[in-house]
Amino acid sequence: MDIFEALRHDHDIQRELIRRLIKTHGDTQERDKLFAQLKQELVAHATAEERIFYMPLMQNDFTQGKCRHSIAEHHEIDELIEALETTPYSSPQWLVKAKQLEEKVEHHLSEEEHEVFQMAGKTITQKAKQGMAGMYHREMDTQRKTA
Ligand SMILES: [Fe+2]
Ligand SMILES: [Fe+2]
Repeated sequence: MDIFEALRHDHDIQRELIRRLIKTHGDTQERDKLFAQLKQELVAHATAEERIFYMPLMQNDFTQGKCRHSIAEHHEIDELIEALETTPYSSPQWLVKAKQLEEKVEHHLSEEEHEVFQMAGKTITQKAKQGMAGMYHREMDTQRKTA
């Protein structure tokens, strides 16, 4: 498995969690549980992805601009998570904000998969792509425990 496959795999986990989250209603255990899971996945992934994938790509002029853009989007996603945390589950606004988060995350994942990975693929060797997958998995294990 290479780094791109590893990242895509976890993107699909996020997509599935959001898809289920926006089908939940009001102040329910299901909404609370799915939101906690989604938040943990988003935060753990953004941290591991920045450390293992974006950090080395920032050193390269060809990929630096795209990396900055992606990291800025991680912050926008954090802000949308915070907005959800300060809105009561029972409020009609909660779903409105959850859908904004869905839109932002979908956009971000698709941009990474269709633009960032293509650019990054040109600058990383095959061996490094595989090495990064191992490092990413180890970092995700740590982050999932602490996020
Ligand atoms: Fe990302
Ligand atoms: Fe990602």
